[in-house]
Amino acid sequence: MDECIRFGVSLSQHLLKRFDKDIERRGYTNRSEAIRDLIRQNLVDSEWEAATSETTAAVILVYDHYKKGVGEHLTNHQHENHDSIIATMHAHLDHNNCMEVVLLRGPVKKVKEIAHKLTSEKHVKLGRFVPATLGKEIR
Ligand code: NI
Repeated sequence: MDECIRFGVSLSQHLLKRFDKDIERRGYTNRSEAIRDLIRQNLVDSEWEAATSETTAAVILVYDHYKKGVGEHLTNHQHENHDSIIATMHAHLDHNNCMEVVLLRGPVKKVKEIAHKLTSEKHVKLGRFVPATLGKEIR
């Protein structure tokens, strides 16, 4: 396991007060865990800036399956990219509406392309793209 290093950070009282208030609202019990999470988020953002990085993402879709072609188009996109799709979960929300969560894995560029194809499909009412990470470089 990595050795834990302590280090000091200088910042204005005003900024620290705002930070403490914010992390309390988010449920953190101490600054260290909040700062660690900020650093991790920053590293994930950097990972996503490099188009060739291997990564993961989730796509959340809500659509009316009675609208012509939408279910079939979404399934076709997923079959065309089966090597980059780890899993798909489908829930029938009510008589008309479906929610689908698609988990992707692959190079950043390809994952983004597939995600955008899914979220921009006609009759998708909500399409959310959630960039994630394989977590290998983040402890
Ligand atoms: Ni359904």
